Amino acid sequence: MKILMVCLGNICRSPLAEGIMKEKFRQQGIAAEVDSAGTAAYHVGEPPDDRSREVAAKHGIDISGQRARQFEVSDFNRFDKIYAMDSQNLSNIAALARDDSDLEKVEMILNESYPGENRQVPDPYYGGKNGFEKVYQMLDEACEKISRG
Ligand code: 4NP
Repeated sequence: MKILMVCLGNICRSPLAEGIMKEKFRQQGIAAEVDSAGTAAYHVGEPPDDRSREVAAKHGIDISGQRARQFEVSDFNRFDKIYAMDSQNLSNIAALARDDSDLEKVEMILNESYPGENRQVPDPYYGGKNGFEKVYQMLDEACEKISRG
C-alpha cells in the first residue's frame, strides 16, 4: 500500500496525516509507504508548521524531519491512494489526472471515517492551537480506519 496525503501548503494538515498514518502502520506491523505533498508551492522545502509539530509531539509522533514538496503528476504513478484534506485540494489534484485510473486514486480522507459525506479537514493555518488539536483528532480517526482496512 502506497499512500499520499495532500493539502494546500504541505506544512499543517498533510504532514500530520503522514505522521499519524506512519505511526498506525508501524504499530500494526504493516509495511507501507506514506508521503505527503501540497497542491501549492509556497512552502516547498520548509519543515512542518510549529503548531503541527507541537500537536504531533504531544501525541508521541515526531514529524520534524519532514520537508514540504509540491504534488506532481508522477505521484499518480507512485501511489495507490491519494487522500485530499478538503474539496479544493481534491479538485486541484483531479485537474491533473490523466485518465480515470488516476482519478480513481483520489479520495477525501474523511470519507474513510464518514463515508460519502465529503467532510473537510479545515485549514488550521490562520487559526489558534485548538484548531490543530481538532485536525489531529479528525486525522487520527480517519487513519485508524485506513490502517484497519
Ligand atoms: P496546509 O495549511 O494546507 O494544511 O499546509 C496551509 C499552509 C499555508 C497556507 C495555507 C494553508 N498558506 O496560505 O500559506
